[in-house]
Order: sequence, then C-alpha cells, then structure tokens
Amino acid sequence: MAILVTGGAGYIGSHTVLYLNQQGEEVIVLDNLQKGHIDAVQNAKFYQGELKNESLLDEIFTSNQINSVIHFAANSLVGESVEKPLEYYENNVIGSYHLIKKMVEHNVKNIVFSSTAATYGNPVKVPIQENDPTVPTNPYGDTKLAIEKMLKWADGAYGLKSVCLRYFNAAGADPEGKIGEDHTPESHLIPIVLQAALGQRENVAIFGDDYPTEDGTCIRDYIHVLDLAAAHYLALKKLHETEESGVYNLGNGTGFSVKQVIDTCRKVTGKDIAAIMATRRAGDPAVLIASSEKAQTELGWIPKYPTLEEIVSHAWNWHKHHPNGYQK
Ligand code: UFG
Repeated sequence: MAILVTGGAGYIGSHTVLYLNQQGEEVIVLDNLQKGHIDAVQNAKFYQGELKNESLLDEIFTSNQINSVIHFAANSLVGESVEKPLEYYENNVIGSYHLIKKMVEHNVKNIVFSSTAATYGNPVKVPIQENDPTVPTNPYGDTKLAIEKMLKWADGAYGLKSVCLRYFNAAGADPEGKIGEDHTPESHLIPIVLQAALGQRENVAIFGDDYPTEDGTCIRDYIHVLDLAAAHYLALKKLHETEESGVYNLGNGTGFSVKQVIDTCRKVTGKDIAAIMATRRAGDPAVLIASSEKAQTELGWIPKYPTLEEIVSHAWNWHKHHPNGYQK
C-alpha cells in the first residue's frame, strides 16, 4: 500500500517524503510545482497537477493502491494571505475540499494534515496547548482552521480519520544535505540570516525590538524539519492502530528571540552577520511556544534534533553547498 503526499515537492513535504522512503514506505507525490522543486522529490512516483483537478485525483486513486494521505499542498505565507485572501481560500480550503471528497469516494480513510500554530492567533498563554482558543489573525491561519473543521465533520459523517499537526517554526534541513529549504522570495528568519552569512544579503532586518520580551524581539519555537517528518509517520501509524482522529502541536517547547537566532547563526557559521533594526511586521505575535506534551504522550514523538545549534548547522550545511537552492 502506498501513501499519497500532496505538496511533496515543498520544503516540509519533501523532507517527509525522504523520511518515509527511509522507513521503506511506497510514496506517491502530487504537487503543482508552483513553489515546490522537482529535484527535492526522490524515490517517489510523481504527478504534477492541482488538487481541484478531480479527474487527476480519480486517476491517482484508481491506478495506485493508496491507503493514506499526507496533505501539505497549500499556500503558506502569512503576509501574502492578508493581501490575497481569496487565493488562499481557493487553493487551501477549496483544494482540500476536492481532496477530501475524492478520498471519501475512493474509500481512503486516513489523512494527516499539515496545520499550523497560526490557527491560534495571539495566544492566551504560553506554552500553547491544543485546546487553547483558536482565533487566527490572518487568512492563512483561518484557512488551515477551516480545513481542520472540514476534517472533523468528515470524520463524523464518513468515518474519515484525521490527525492535524500544528507546526510551530519549521527549520533546518536533511542532516545528510540531500535536500533543504529553498523559497523564492525567502521570508523565513533562519534562511534569511544564512543568506546574509553567505554575502547574498547585506544584513538582516530585525522586525521590531519593542515587544514585551527580554531583548524586545519576537520569540519563536523552532523545530527541525525532519522531526516534523517523523511526527507525520507516527501520526499515520496511530491512525492505523487506533482509528482515532486528533490534533497535535509540534514544537520543542523552547523559545528563541530573533536576536538569539542571529547570534546562533553567527556562532555556527563563524561569520559576522550584520543586523539592522526595522519596524514591526504586521501580524507578528510576540511569543509563540508550543506545548508538545500531547504529541509526546500520545504519538510517542521525541524530537531527535532539539537544539537550535543542530537546526541551524543542518540548514547551514545545505545553504553553503547550495547557495542558489535547487537552481543548478
Ligand atoms: N523576522 C525578522 N526578520 C526577517 C524575517 C523574520 O525579524 O527578515 C522575524 C519575524 O518578525 C518573526 C520571526 O523572525 O518574529 C520568525 O519569522 P518567520 O517568518 O521565520 O516565521 P513566522 O513565525 O512568521 O511564521 C512561521 C511560518 C508560518 C506559521 C508560523 C506559526 O512561516 O507559516 O510560523 O508559528 F504560521
């Protein structure tokens, strides 16, 4: 039996495909390659296309023996979602609707869904727990929450079992350096700082130092992309064993400020990375830290690369050897 991975050519998707391969699983990837990279997909049957293409989904489900889906395919930039909300509802919510509909029709009963800490909005407390209020402050988080709700109701009506994984800040790369992070344009902190270390940027702009945190910059919970990948596999196993749906946070439970991240990058790369102060970026909560106790207890998930140094060194290994990402 095979696992269908939608968005398997993207950053987290491709690391999950790699991890599933390492576990001996047969993987099928569907990706529209709008943001993903074909070179990031190794050892998987590949289909290029859109989730809304129902005849393509029919073909994928009828010509392969698929018993589970891991669903990443989505637009995922917070700032862009505020500017183009309809695009986000179309690609994320309507795209997922077509996938879920076809899973029900083809009797595929298990899905692991790539959700986000952005479903919480401004947290009422940290560390954040799964039953804390979900009040997204941007369309991206709202679309992911809408899909979580669609999955919940689909469980009640059709017995479709789902695990929704709410990631905090994904970072790092395959420790062996086969694949890594490559977004155009890049908006995430760690790759931006590493681009500055490579001399591809003059400096890093720190978005605000007047937050109510110790050094005034935002605090995030960075989690290694391969630890996220492992959690997807454990979630699938749990679905098959217990046939119970669930929602889990995935983070390390430790927060680092923007300044601490830049310092760690300086230490790992040995480069003087220039940083300048800039104004706040709209929509950034001051502190996001996960409680991942539920994932640890119920899924048996234990992050293998929990330190920021490890996360940054794996990312640096990729960036150093692939300064232009997947572009040859
Ligand atoms: N930051 C800077 N300068 C930069 C880039 C980022 O100071 O050039 C700051 C941001 O303001 C933020 C922190 O670094 O305080 C981390 O920013 P990222 O863009 O790397 O990540 P976000 O926390 O904004 O978002 C990430 C994912 C989202 C997800 C969110 C949930 O990209 O998809 O985590 O926690 F919704």
